[in-house]
Amino acid sequence: MYKLSLTLLAIILAFKCISADIPTRLLNNGQKIPIVGLGAGHVTEESVRSALEVGYRHIDTSLNYGDSEIIIGKVLKEVLKDGKIKRQDLYIVSKLETEYHTRSRVPEGIKKSLQRLDLDYLDLYLIHSPDSQPANITVGETWLGMIDVLKANLTRSIGVSNFNQKQLDEVIAKGVVPVTNQVICNPYVNERKLLAYADSHNVTLTAYSPVGGRAYPDLLKDPKLIEIGNKYKVSSAQVALRFEIQRGVIAIPNSQNPKYIKENIDVFGFKLTDEDIKAIEALNKKDS
Ligand SMILES: NC(=O)c1ccc[n+]([C@@H]2O[C@H](COP(=O)([O-])OP(=O)(O)OC[C@H]3O[C@@H](n4cnc5c(N)ncnc54)[C@H](OP(=O)(O)O)[C@@H]3O)[C@@H](O)[C@H]2O)c1
Repeated sequence: MYKLSLTLLAIILAFKCISADIPTRLLNNGQKIPIVGLGAGHVTEESVRSALEVGYRHIDTSLNYGDSEIIIGKVLKEVLKDGKIKRQDLYIVSKLETEYHTRSRVPEGIKKSLQRLDLDYLDLYLIHSPDSQPANITVGETWLGMIDVLKANLTRSIGVSNFNQKQLDEVIAKGVVPVTNQVICNPYVNERKLLAYADSHNVTLTAYSPVGGRAYPDLLKDPKLIEIGNKYKVSSAQVALRFEIQRGVIAIPNSQNPKYIKENIDVFGFKLTDEDIKAIEALNKKDS
């Protein structure tokens, strides 16, 4: 079973490339997402420009990431105007915040993000979190609003974030399967069970904090990740990212440092062995 799903992943990851040569992951609606994106929790105009220059096309932001959407919108306007990059080659993701969780307010939430990004449509819109669901509003109701904005072509795909299995079931029951569930995921919290569950429902996982984030600040100092990295002459961050990619998990590392931004997308020139993967899986600290 494990072998079969690895073979399937190899096919899915057949490294079909979009313009910037970033491998893509096939989604359940037939669309493709670049498997590495820029996490834009903290960005500057320079960091967005430098990411686009080294080949990032997928950018993950949210209405509540400060000025992130506005900064991204400004840079995208420049590059689209120059004709350096075409809109269809970009993959822009944003998220619905709690105050817009009532079905009738979801269009308002996405329109606000579109206006800040200065775009006509998103590639993917996510429910940011089910945790602070307002009283009397179920995630199922919010999902109906997400389906409304999908049908209105304000976004090409819809998905969720921070959802557990039960919450995934609740939205799937509404008739449209989310294309992804964005969750914290890295070698210390590898979400193996949630990944298997999502796989069985044709939902991808997207890893946030893939190089540790604030929750696991020591991840990149892990001796095993460093040892594996030395073998391939790559950093522990590249090992952590490659681990996700080889399991078919989309990764959205954040950095404002041009060196790290470049390094985090330069993860397609080496391949972890089954033995490496087992050793990385053994680092898991939290069973979901
Ligand atoms: N859906 C959600 O609820 C949710 C929650 C959290 C995050 N996110 C998304 O996920 C993105 C990434 O998550 P995150 O920022 O929590 O964690 P992360 O990307 O795992 O970690 C970011 C930190 O790692 C450092 N770093 C990045 N690349 C590095 C490298 N190659 N070598 C050494 N250090 C490196 C960065 O340092 P420098 O800044 O100094 O470069 C920064 O301090 C966010 O930007 C956001 O888009 C989503």
